[in-house]
Amino acid sequence: MVSPSHGVASVLSEVKGQDFLSVSDFTADQIAALLHLATQLKSGDRRIDLGNRVLGLIFTKASTRTRVSFQVAMARLGGQTVDLNPQVTQLGRGEPLEDTARVLSRFCDVLAIRTFAQQELIDYAKWASIPVINALTDLEHPCQALADFLTLKESFGDLNGLTLTYIGDGNNVAHSLMICGALLGVNIRIACPRGFEPIPEVVSHARSIAIKGSSIHLMNDPKEAMKDANAVYTDVWASMGQEKEKTRREKAFQGFCLNPELVAEASSNCIVMHCLPAHRGEEITSEVFEGKASRIFDQAENRLHVQQALLAGVLGGL
Ligand code: CP
Ligand code: NVA
Repeated sequence: MVSPSHGVASVLSEVKGQDFLSVSDFTADQIAALLHLATQLKSGDRRIDLGNRVLGLIFTKASTRTRVSFQVAMARLGGQTVDLNPQVTQLGRGEPLEDTARVLSRFCDVLAIRTFAQQELIDYAKWASIPVINALTDLEHPCQALADFLTLKESFGDLNGLTLTYIGDGNNVAHSLMICGALLGVNIRIACPRGFEPIPEVVSHARSIAIKGSSIHLMNDPKEAMKDANAVYTDVWASMGQEKEKTRREKAFQGFCLNPELVAEASSNCIVMHCLPAHRGEEITSEVFEGKASRIFDQAENRLHVQQALLAGVLGGL
């Protein structure tokens, strides 16, 4: 892993022009360097001016944090964003993705895309000649994972050997946490009701890249998963696009609400995490959400700092 004083700029020069479609598009050293740069940007020790670069935002799902943090990150880097919501572009009227991606590459310097299918993101990356960033798909939420691991680092210092327990749906957020944990040496436990586990191929991929000896455990018992955890994390039971399954999922996820009894099973200094938006009284109680172990709003803030570092990296501004 890259040391703070050694070679951050040189490691990040490797990601210039690269896509970030999955956490595993970057190496452990590259992610560590991004987190280091994000810390410097957050503290004000480092300022970066990219000189009027333009980020295009193509969001086919709702967003508060991701959209606004990308907009503010570009503003802080001396650039700007263009909102390319498909409802207001010709995409919404059926213009092919391959034409759209090539045209936007002539105007913009980088694209951040939020959509359903990972394949659509891969197609954009294939046709665009500028970097493409995953701003959430059904498969992964890699920018969220960067912010989450920065939050863990701020709480514990050294990430190596920590245990993060995620309870709830084996979804996009769980997938990116597993991959990022594997790269950074954090043990990940995922506790889901039967039938809501993460995609097996993502689990085996994460295990195959766990070079620092960290483990990934899938469980169905939330109480067992909590034992000695340093961080406990949850997300909504029905993600965007799964609204029709809400009632069925509410039944299936009984017992998976992050409440004070469950949190009491974790390590005494454990932190509570949630990517937001949250449904209080479903996946998390108000008491836990608002409790003193909660780092939920630090996670939200850290979206800004990690994405500023990511943009600086892929745009080659270091
Ligand atoms: N956590 C997150 O991605 O939030 P938004 O959906 O508001 O962007
Ligand atoms: N799993 C959630 C995350 C939202 C940030 C979703 O995809 O809707």
